[in-house]
Amino acid sequence: MGERLLTRNWGTPERHALKSYLAAGGYQSLKKARGMEPAAIVDEVKRSGLRGMGGAGFATGVKWGFVPRDNPRPRYLCVNADEGEPGTYKDRYLMERDPHMLLEGIAIACRAIGAQTAYIYIRGEFHAVADRLETAIAEARGGGYLGHNALGPGVDLDVWVHRGAGAYVCGEETALIESLEGKQGKPRLKPPFPAVVGAFAAPTIVNNVETLAQVPHILERGAAAWKALGVNGGSGTKLYGASGRVERPGLWELPMGTRLSEIVLEHAGGVRDGKRLKGVIPGGSSCPVLLPDEIDVPMTFDALMAKGSMLGTGCAAVLDEETCAVRLCLRLMRFYAHESCGQCTPCREGNHWLAKIVQRIESGRGEPGDVDLALEVAQNILGNTICPLGDACAMPARAFLQKYRAEFETHVRERRCPYGSYPIRPGGREITG
Ligand SMILES: Cc1cc2nc3c(=O)[nH]c(=O)nc-3n(C[C@H](O)[C@H](O)[C@H](O)COP(=O)(O)O)c2cc1C
Repeated sequence: MGERLLTRNWGTPERHALKSYLAAGGYQSLKKARGMEPAAIVDEVKRSGLRGMGGAGFATGVKWGFVPRDNPRPRYLCVNADEGEPGTYKDRYLMERDPHMLLEGIAIACRAIGAQTAYIYIRGEFHAVADRLETAIAEARGGGYLGHNALGPGVDLDVWVHRGAGAYVCGEETALIESLEGKQGKPRLKPPFPAVVGAFAAPTIVNNVETLAQVPHILERGAAAWKALGVNGGSGTKLYGASGRVERPGLWELPMGTRLSEIVLEHAGGVRDGKRLKGVIPGGSSCPVLLPDEIDVPMTFDALMAKGSMLGTGCAAVLDEETCAVRLCLRLMRFYAHESCGQCTPCREGNHWLAKIVQRIESGRGEPGDVDLALEVAQNILGNTICPLGDACAMPARAFLQKYRAEFETHVRERRCPYGSYPIRPGGREITG
């Protein structure tokens, strides 16, 4: 199983309380950071090889280094706790079970980038988690870990919880910033990147919850020792999940670089009821699906990219022989069509168009040529939008259409779904036209 850092307090009673966190050695890394030069913290995080756990995998220390030192404006840290990617449930557990680990990571990151205000932008539906964070912030202020002189003599730190309204696009870093500023969550054109012009036109670092929760452990052990916990080219540890048609859906902290086959077949107990494996979406629904013979792959950003997919959030979803690939593809297309912010034509129109074509096929009204039409629509979305939400729809669509093409064509030929009729959920609406 390997060493546990992020989840090491999860078995303790009152694990979310300050006293439990302190008893487990918590906030020692912040004390260490107060005695370090900001640049030294950035270097340590660079050396650790920590990469962003929000999906894009950008090197965290390198991103922190982009904050201009000569800009007189205040600097901000935005914590991305939106966790909207379907099939993903890791940040919620981190915040609910050990909120102080995140707060310590936030404080160290703020010292590193010279910020004195941090915003935790949390998904609107996470009411209980947001309340827990508020309680933890009050406790940490009382203990002197946040608030007055938190980052050293004369250097205060304020942390605010900002509740979103439940839009997937607001997890995209610039949409998050727009929403935080009180505007509609519509992504901005980049450059300029948030590190240079972010929240309130000031330098801003946006980091995922899991990314920041790792920071105290890097300082505690030292970059090299933390890095060495990874396997197969990965650094440190990672929360990996598996859901869908598995015996034991769950979330496990494992060495970064653990093989997907090990996660699905061992930790999750393999496919449910002895059925055959049909495919695995490795890290949230925007990652292209992998076929059974492709899952013996280390769960790292680079290894999955080389397989034509992505690590994403590291929370996998498993398909078995009874899963209709067309229906699953439709479910995802409907999600992305619904979540498009509408700013870019390829995403606004294309995601919807994809959903309509796939629905036509699934409900037995597909035409010969529909698979190629859908592939062409997906191709025209890719890379043609301000933010990657369009890609997040087109990439999995393309993978489903290519890898399960025969199944799509059977639907068209037989004018029905071989897995049974397509149920429109109660109150659900068929996309027509
Ligand atoms: C449509 C869309 C949704 C996203 N949702 C999230 C999210 O819920 N949580 C998250 O941490 N990153 C999300 N991201 C990635 C962020 O834009 C950004 O890369 C990340 O927060 C940076 O933090 P990191 O470097 O620590 O990963 C999303 C990106 C896109 C395009």
